Amino acid sequence: MGFFNFFTKELAIDLGTANTLIVYEGEIVVDSPSIVAKDLKTGKIIAVGKEAAMMQGKEHKGISIIRPLKDGVIADFEASEQMIQEFIRQIPALKKSFFTPKLKMVICIPSGITEVEKRAVRDSAEKVNASEVYLIPEPMAAAIGMGIDITKPQGNMVIDIGGGTTEIAVISLGGIHVEKSVKIAGDVFNDDIAYYMRAKHNLIVGERTAEKIKINVGSAVDELSNPPEDYPVRGRDVITGKPKEVIVSYNEIAKALDKSLVRIESAIMETLSKTAPELSADIYKGGLFLAGGGSLLRGLDKRISEATGLPVHVAEDPLRAVIRGTGMVINNFEKLKVALDQ
Ligand SMILES: Nc1ncnc2c1ncn2[C@@H]1O[C@H](COP(=O)(O)OP(=O)(O)OP(=O)(O)O)[C@@H](O)[C@H]1O
Ligand SMILES: [Mg+2]
Repeated sequence: MGFFNFFTKELAIDLGTANTLIVYEGEIVVDSPSIVAKDLKTGKIIAVGKEAAMMQGKEHKGISIIRPLKDGVIADFEASEQMIQEFIRQIPALKKSFFTPKLKMVICIPSGITEVEKRAVRDSAEKVNASEVYLIPEPMAAAIGMGIDITKPQGNMVIDIGGGTTEIAVISLGGIHVEKSVKIAGDVFNDDIAYYMRAKHNLIVGERTAEKIKINVGSAVDELSNPPEDYPVRGRDVITGKPKEVIVSYNEIAKALDKSLVRIESAIMETLSKTAPELSADIYKGGLFLAGGGSLLRGLDKRISEATGLPVHVAEDPLRAVIRGTGMVINNFEKLKVALDQ
């Protein structure tokens, strides 16, 4: 490290629709829901991350709970900047320093975003004291994080199923050969579950409850070899307005999610059909690589494998594959800078 960059600190950021993760000096120092709680009277942020998530659905009129990102992109600029600022402020090692250092940042972005949306991410970073900002497409970061050597002349298909988007990309020689991004991911799964509970059980459930159902009894297939126990769900009865409880099973949730999963499968098939034959040959051998929180859905790997006839590998700790990859770019900047958004 030379004298002049002594005051520069390096951060890798995965600014996700559902979760924001930050790596500082090789360690994950932030892993929090992308949520902000604001006092409507004063306009001040009263909580971010986990603390704000606990308030979700339970707020009173004076508090607004905001998810600054939607469908993988910044929907509320002010809230998103305040959130990043707060997360960075909370990094213990930075808290201790006497002055605010200049920050070199590598930020992960969805592969399908527009120039205007990229500009918004850069602007937000610059407002929180970033002196150098690099962007990296999310599937590229996921591939690096899964240990794939992206610089080789070899095709790999990566599918990152997050909260807002499912990003599908074929990567070779440090670049993206074909890609597709669909706005069907964890958030839509939650909407599907809430819709199903209302239509089938006359039960209105909030977003947090839908998420809990997905984690506890979510499934992509209606037959699991290792099924989870049925799950009690509480909410408000549509007709009587009274609180009530119903028990749901995983095969019901598989039914609720089917339509969205079919759309993800079609997007994968479409991307495969646009892949050059030499790269198809590589993918036939290597299979598909799944990352992102959505890949934790029970049976999803099996379902995608059956639909495509290809082996499917799920990343180890899929919620952290993208930030691992983004962090690795900072550490091996010269070798991996080809992966950056040019
Ligand atoms: N065990 C699980 N089963 C199913 N879904 C899960 C599980 N754990 C987490 N998820 C879902 O994963 C999603 C979050 O994944 P991730 O953190 O990769 O998304 P993100 O990076 O914030 O979103 P995006 O990349 O779309 O901006 C959420 O929708 C969450 O509900
Ligand atoms: Mg993501």
